[in-house]
Amino acid sequence: MNILGIETSCDETSAAVVRDGREIVSLVVNTQIDLHRVYGGVVPEIASRLHIESIDEVVSRALRQAKMTMQDVDAVAVTAYPGLIGALLVGVNFAKGLAYSWDRPLVPVHHIRGHIASNYLTHPDLEPPFLCLIASGGHTNLAVVEDYTRMRLVGRTRDDAAGECFDKIARVLGMPYPGGVEMDRAAQRGSVGAYHFPRVKVEGSPLDFSFSGLKSAAINLLHNLEQRGETVAVDDFAACFSDALVGELIDRLALALDGTGLKKVALAGGVSANTLLRARAGALCRERGCELFLPELSLCGDNAAMIASQGYYEFLAGARAGLDLNAAATKAL
Ligand code: KG4
Ligand code: ZN
Repeated sequence: MNILGIETSCDETSAAVVRDGREIVSLVVNTQIDLHRVYGGVVPEIASRLHIESIDEVVSRALRQAKMTMQDVDAVAVTAYPGLIGALLVGVNFAKGLAYSWDRPLVPVHHIRGHIASNYLTHPDLEPPFLCLIASGGHTNLAVVEDYTRMRLVGRTRDDAAGECFDKIARVLGMPYPGGVEMDRAAQRGSVGAYHFPRVKVEGSPLDFSFSGLKSAAINLLHNLEQRGETVAVDDFAACFSDALVGELIDRLALALDGTGLKKVALAGGVSANTLLRARAGALCRERGCELFLPELSLCGDNAAMIASQGYYEFLAGARAGLDLNAAATKAL
């Protein structure tokens, strides 16, 4: 079964064809990053306008790359939630037009479920149940993936997302947007020990995350150093901050492993590209005798292949949308 996936939830316009949920036949990702960089972050209205300009070309290229026409596509899957509402509406409306004119089923996909599915594309043998840590620019969740379309949220952030936190500190350190990858590079050059950050616990909810305190502590520390006229060793700062943030993620992952008794772990979302996180998750899983699944680096960020993959499993589970499908900025996993 060939599914055409469409993703426009943030700043990537993407289309892909995926066979039977596991095999990428084609994938086109048109990133808007260069156009948002001058503003230091994604400007929602600009994102919507750029999606509407490029969506037709991106979908056409994905079909050409797959050497397919509408006859070969069995269903259209689209990210309908969560994300920037104006950006989502572009993809949803385009997918509706295709589904209507091609007379194919329309399958709405949850963006975060799509991130989880990036692991199915990377690891053909991965099957639920498994524990998944999802960390992106807008979300940080710990979920038990009980089945392809049944997830149980066991932990979530109470405030900022891990990626948002990386981006914010990178910005204060003077790195270009998106800062996560820049922080990763700097952290690899630096060493830990010089800067200290608080560890955070959410009272009564040991699997929940809270990053706003860590973020404020880092900003205050930078501010104080600046006021005292001390130069910040940027690479060391990035290494210490990454160590603290990744420490929060790994501590919860370890706790969740103990609590669920699961022996398979996956990472997902943009932050799953982080070098330190991948290494620490590897060490944790070796220590606990668990199997670790990491998405291929090129599939960690937003892309339509993961949406087509999850769309396949949603389709098998009976998910269908009518032409009245609406987008939503937020939606439970
Ligand atoms: O999943 P994603 O592409 O978009 C959302 O759904 O939000 O995640 C983007 C986030 C950004 O905050 C970006 O800085 C972060 O993932 N990111 C990283 C790395 N690569 C991307 N954070 C840390 N280390 C990285 N290597
Ligand atoms: Zn994403």
